[in-house]
Amino acid sequence: MPLRALALLFLIVVPTLCAADDRPVRLAAPQALVETGLLKHALPRFTLKTQVRVELVAVDSGADMVLGDAGRALFQGPNQLWRLDVLTPDHPGTKRLADWLLSEVGQRTIASYAPDGAPLFGPPGAVEEVVVEVTADENAELGHEVSLNKCTRCHAVDAATSGWGIGSTPSFGVLRALPDWEERFAAFYVLNPHPAFTQIEDVTPPFPIDRPSPIAPMELTLEELQAVLAYVAAMPAADLGQPLAHQ
Ligand code: HEC
Repeated sequence: MPLRALALLFLIVVPTLCAADDRPVRLAAPQALVETGLLKHALPRFTLKTQVRVELVAVDSGADMVLGDAGRALFQGPNQLWRLDVLTPDHPGTKRLADWLLSEVGQRTIASYAPDGAPLFGPPGAVEEVVVEVTADENAELGHEVSLNKCTRCHAVDAATSGWGIGSTPSFGVLRALPDWEERFAAFYVLNPHPAFTQIEDVTPPFPIDRPSPIAPMELTLEELQAVLAYVAAMPAADLGQPLAHQ
């Protein structure tokens, strides 16, 4: 290509690229999250590093990315797992912001946000990475024991404990009969009411200082949780009775 043509190409292409880079990323987040102050803490650090500006917008107003309950698990706290959904992947800033938030630096920035001295947010943990090993009997036995020790306070776990726990709380048999039982058990510690009193070693952030566990905290290791999954996988689903006559 003759040099002049190349130069011309530069003149045309480079300014367009720059203009595109200048567009701020429009990020939508629920008010509850905005009010924690986390975004004000984290986003300026991202912008400083990358020169990509981020504009906070309302959830339904043409955002490029949404923080909420869809997309990739990003961080958790208080009492919720936050996910990131990228709506305009061809925007030059969205990928950078997503990459940064998921990077070690981004995760450290999120975890370092401690407005009252205690961190409010932590890594997403193993919510999606929990490997379910459903075959080992030993594992299922351990899971049975863990469930009896830790969950019967509220749930009926097996035939011997039916009628135990809190009547309005679903039994393990009933939960096992749900098509997505596995996801529910793997992530039970982020599903209400558990986050308020549950700690998974090395996974959940400590309870926020202003919201200590209202009841004796329940502590599990990831291995124990995997064992519970193995136990539930092997247990019979509850007989839910006659199907509905009218749907
Ligand atoms: C202090 C009471 C309490 C304890 C202890 C408890 N749970 Fe629960 N759990 C509940 C209640 C209440 C619900 C029903 C929540 C609802 O209906 O939204 C529930 C629901 C669940 C669900 C279904 C969640 C969903 O949203 O689909 C799973 C799975 C579960 N519990 C697992 C466990 C396991 C495993 C343990 C023990 C390691 C445990 N729970 C200990 C109170 C408890």
